Amino acid sequence: MQQEPVTVFMHGEVAARIAPDGKGGGSLRYDGTYRSNRDAVPLSLSLPMNVQDHSPEATASWIGGLLPDNPRVLERWYANEGVSPPTPLGLLRTRVGRDCAGAARFVPEGDESEVLGRGGSLKGLSDSDVAKEMRSMAADLSYWLPDAEEAYFSLGGYQAKTALHLLDDGTWARPSGNTPTTHILKPSPTTQPEMAAVEHVCLDIARRLGLDAADSTLETYGGVKVCVISRYDRRRGGDGWERVHQEDACQAMGLHPHLKYEAQGGPGIAQMGDLIRRSSARPREDIKSFRDTLLYYWLIVNRDAHARNYSFLIEPSGVRLAPIYDPGSVLPGARKRIGSYELAMRFGRDFTVYRSHAKDSLSTLSAYLRAEHGDTLSRAEELAATIVDCAEKSIAALPAAHQTPPLEKMLLGLNKRSGECQKTVRAARSIISAANRNRRNKTGQAEHPPTASGSQVAPGDDAQSPTQSGRLEKAQCGHKSTRTGKRCIMGAGHTSPHRYKR
Ligand SMILES: Nc1ncnc2c1ncn2[C@@H]1O[C@H](COP(=O)(O)OP(=O)(O)OP(=O)(O)O)[C@@H](O)[C@H]1O
Ligand SMILES: [Mg+2]
Repeated sequence: MQQEPVTVFMHGEVAARIAPDGKGGGSLRYDGTYRSNRDAVPLSLSLPMNVQDHSPEATASWIGGLLPDNPRVLERWYANEGVSPPTPLGLLRTRVGRDCAGAARFVPEGDESEVLGRGGSLKGLSDSDVAKEMRSMAADLSYWLPDAEEAYFSLGGYQAKTALHLLDDGTWARPSGNTPTTHILKPSPTTQPEMAAVEHVCLDIARRLGLDAADSTLETYGGVKVCVISRYDRRRGGDGWERVHQEDACQAMGLHPHLKYEAQGGPGIAQMGDLIRRSSARPREDIKSFRDTLLYYWLIVNRDAHARNYSFLIEPSGVRLAPIYDPGSVLPGARKRIGSYELAMRFGRDFTVYRSHAKDSLSTLSAYLRAEHGDTLSRAEELAATIVDCAEKSIAALPAAHQTPPLEKMLLGLNKRSGECQKTVRAARSIISAANRNRRNKTGQAEHPPTASGSQVAPGDDAQSPTQSGRLEKAQCGHKSTRTGKRCIMGAGHTSPHRYKR
């Protein structure tokens, strides 16, 4: 049964076929007509359309990224859908492959007309239906989808979630046929009753800071707090709801989904920056959005900002970094020193929050991103200075019953983080001043004027500058000893005495 090919549809057109390789995977072949369509987009940036055939390995990374990360959910879906042997391709042939992140839809070869010819339908859900589902999910994190219904969706990630369609009258429905889901509902687990509130508040603070973040509301169903998030990969067009294609950064890099954390071999900030620069239709804007997101996550201490929590929208008009989704913060529930938490990507030279406050961490970040260091410092300062106000407003906007001690703790934590992060910006500025002083001493000239972009840092002035590969090379102080004529080998802006090569 699973040996039959699977057809991949995009916007009602056959985009590709995946032929099983007999080992659980399959190679992907783009459809010739699809490839020649001017509006066609690649299924993944790692599966470019100028190549018609893609290997099972390349195909596996993309497919794997469309399925949940929680092994218990996968086990449950394999069992419920009767997928044996349990392979990702086998699962995507079933109902779950009909509504994924992005626009791709999977249909067993031969069943295309049955699935695509019948339009769409919606089965209305009462508030008590939704409450029942949310309670089931809060108690059992692997319950993402009713076991026996004609309902569908697949999404990545570990946390309990389901995807539904919101009707114009504000009620929920389960779509089938061609109708897409429009929202993601993430209930708080029974063991962490405030999780949904924290996710909503983190999205809301981001929006109040002017960052591009998915829309969300905080709701309660059956006593369970639920973060309800609008899907940015669904759009209302003339003919109703449409799917917009997207993929996460692991898929875009052709990396298996388990390579999402940098510490486990996944991409870091420099690799993410490279990916944005080479893929985005507006690389400068998207690098800035990525930088702002990183600074925001640094402030709120989001230790789960791994490569699968960044995505790209892939449209005929070009590729863009997707809005912020799935933010989190350790501040509401911190049980140890904030400094000892580790971030998902090295911020500066190290993963720990403590080391992210090293004097050179922000210049390293600028170097990773090849961004103007002066802009990075200004944005860091601006976000740190306004975040507490945004957080206060965000929490105050919630009904009183939602203004709970964890959110108050988050506010207190943010107050402290705002101060710490501003202190780090000041330390970074002192490095620049010291470098400028050194230069004045060396050349007898006035302080280097600001660059065109307003940065106080002239090209090459960063304590570090990136090489093509994103590897960092440290700029040296270069002070010349009047006695020996040798140059100082310390990093630019060092505050300890000069040291010369022996
Ligand atoms: N607002 C959104 N619009 C469209 N797609 C989204 C949105 N939010 C999340 N997704 C997609 O759903 C996937 C899973 O969502 P999310 O990251 O929120 O889940 P999670 O279980 O909390 O993840 P993690 O395991 O990282 O904690 C994302 O990787 C992304 O592909
Ligand atoms: Mg996630």
